[in-house]
Amino acid sequence: MDKKALKPLFDYAGGYNGHESVTVNRHLKVENGLAGQDILSVAQFDRPMLAYVFERAREMREMVGRVGGTDLLTGRVLACLFYEPSTRTSASFIAAMERLGGGVIPITQGVQFSSVSKGETLPDTVRTLEQYSDVIVLRHPEIGSAQVAADYASVPVINAGDGPGEHPTQALLDLFTIQEELGQIEGLKIAMVGDLRYGRTVHSLTKLLLQYDVSLRFVSPEILRLPLTIMNEVIDAGVNARETHDVADVIENADVLYVTRVQKERFSDLAQYEEVKDHYEITPEIMARAKQKMVVMHPLPRVGEIHYAVDSDPRAAYFRQVRNGMYIRMALLAAVLGKA
Ligand code: CP
Repeated sequence: MDKKALKPLFDYAGGYNGHESVTVNRHLKVENGLAGQDILSVAQFDRPMLAYVFERAREMREMVGRVGGTDLLTGRVLACLFYEPSTRTSASFIAAMERLGGGVIPITQGVQFSSVSKGETLPDTVRTLEQYSDVIVLRHPEIGSAQVAADYASVPVINAGDGPGEHPTQALLDLFTIQEELGQIEGLKIAMVGDLRYGRTVHSLTKLLLQYDVSLRFVSPEILRLPLTIMNEVIDAGVNARETHDVADVIENADVLYVTRVQKERFSDLAQYEEVKDHYEITPEIMARAKQKMVVMHPLPRVGEIHYAVDSDPRAAYFRQVRNGMYIRMALLAAVLGKA
């Protein structure tokens, strides 16, 4: 499937272009608008597309629970190209591809062992990997790198994190987790806590949530506030939103407490990092003030933002969130490879 031959997913004038139609189950007829497409930003996903991906993820969960895997993508190969460290995103994409019967080229344990260390550029690397593979998953430290890769590759490119820019597949699994844990997204009060400046998962999830009637609370130290560009999108969307420095202001009303790590690797001044790195820690004492029906989420890794004693609290959803990542990525791989 040649993605250059396909229309863009959105025409940016407001609507979908035409896509093949598939029947996911007896009740839900939806569009696979992802066939042959790059996944670069959450801006590509509207509500029908989200419903499609979530339904496919549920089917993957049911299938994995029943038989462990399938041959849906037999003969297809995923190139996993990671210029930054990863445990969850890389491992879940690999697990997803293998459970779907496909193969993987894993350049995930340090590109220093690839020809990148000899000075090979990103465009040349992706034009090489597309000779062997049908889809490329890329993590890279620079904003816009996934778009650059997509401009050069003729196979679909999936953005697995471009510096402090976006992490769209994480946002999809986060939103899916909220839906599955609480049974709804509409009407929820969602508090984002920690490094809202550099945390790309917060950027992507916030943008997705603007499609829903939710209340957003942004909790961060002053220097780690949400970037103005994203805050302007929040304001333009008319969503109920407030900023605070104090978790105590949000804990009693939050339906979702989305906690994030301070992103040490993005600081040019490490003294500034030291000032804010221990600003928040969610403890059992803090959780005692939270609602009985709510969830604590974290994209992980954590480095002290959530005390280990919280892990046994049924409201701690972060490892269930990790597992959802595999189902969402199975759904996405099947969709971009046209196996709806
Ligand atoms: N959540 C996430 O992106 O984790 P990794 O950095 O381990 O992939």
